[in-house]
Amino acid sequence: MIKKTITDVDSDGLQGRTVIVRADLNVPLDNGSISDDQRIRASLPTLQMLTDAGARVILLSHLGRPKGQVNPTFSLAPVAVRLNELLEPSVHFVPYTDGAAAAHALHDIGDGEIAILENTRFEPGESANAPDLAHSWAALGDLFVNDAFGTAHRAHASTAGLAHAMRAKGGEAVAGLLMATELEFLEEALRTPERPFVAIVGGAKISSKIGVISSLLPRVDCLLIGGAMANTFFRALGLDTGDSLVEEDSIEVARDLIATGGERLVLPVDCTVANEIVEDAECRAVDRTGVKQGEKILDVGPRTRLLFADLVGRAKTIVWNGPMGVFEIDAFAEGTMDIAHAVAGACDAGAIGILGGGDSAAAAERAGVVDRLTHVSTGGGASLELLAGAQLPGVNALSNRSV
Ligand code: 3PG
Repeated sequence: MIKKTITDVDSDGLQGRTVIVRADLNVPLDNGSISDDQRIRASLPTLQMLTDAGARVILLSHLGRPKGQVNPTFSLAPVAVRLNELLEPSVHFVPYTDGAAAAHALHDIGDGEIAILENTRFEPGESANAPDLAHSWAALGDLFVNDAFGTAHRAHASTAGLAHAMRAKGGEAVAGLLMATELEFLEEALRTPERPFVAIVGGAKISSKIGVISSLLPRVDCLLIGGAMANTFFRALGLDTGDSLVEEDSIEVARDLIATGGERLVLPVDCTVANEIVEDAECRAVDRTGVKQGEKILDVGPRTRLLFADLVGRAKTIVWNGPMGVFEIDAFAEGTMDIAHAVAGACDAGAIGILGGGDSAAAAERAGVVDRLTHVSTGGGASLELLAGAQLPGVNALSNRSV
């Protein structure tokens, strides 16, 4: 990796040193309670490493999209409580956000302790990447650790802005352990993949994944398409899709991808259809040419599930982003569950299996296979952008390793 990571920092020099850490603690909240703490857990190794070495940590994160306004619904207070339960050192919650607040907080924490500031997005300057806000945090110390992979695609004051501000004053900006792991799998492992290299792309909209499909298509041995986006490809083939979700504006794009991809682009051969998206819907499996008026395509069909499982089973490198159907409803979950098990099985047999975040991570969780996969990304939008070959501002701004 060309960027410096926390492992490049001399841990002997961390005792009593102030370190500013940006994590992505943007967890789902249900009536104020954290419903999935995966992102908090994924941030622990970096925090533990720094506090074990005696650093005084100022921790920054956003939560939700409060749009520059203080809004208690998006307070990081519940996250601070959870961190206190999970981490050995004390975690102090500071109900303010900017650098002046953090400077006060530093008086209250000892070596090896953490002060977590309130939501960075309560500051109007955060999303605007305001230099004065970034400088107010950078003024606190001379080391910035960006561990917020999930937010690395945003050029915000607490991500790219803070890294630039820290380096401008002669300090260092390095990747945390989670950020380094994410980049190792989503960027480096896929640069020289062991073959066969199979990509699985699902979800509702081609428009949100054109970048990923176009970037992966020339690099993979085959790219399997599932989810509602397959319907748009069916339309590009001239097939009838009944009442299914179709992106009319993307039919032309789908046609181009079919032409460029040739045999490498593998579409479902059959599908599961129903008239309604409900748990007790009457479903039937049909060939992709047999969808009737009034029917909706809601999952890939049984022949496709076998075809996809076979291709995945032979792969040595797999990247998966997006579900094969409406997997939140049992009646339409089989395609996604089968893919999850196929990827896990391939990993058991020695393949590298990498999951983009978001829906696919939730699907793997539901299938109970997370522990068998090589890597499950904590980033939704960030992993999509990286897979599409984009540069991430939060990563670009970090210090380079000397060659
Ligand atoms: C995410 O949940 O994908 C990240 O935390 C980024 O959040 P955002 O899309 O609100 O910037």
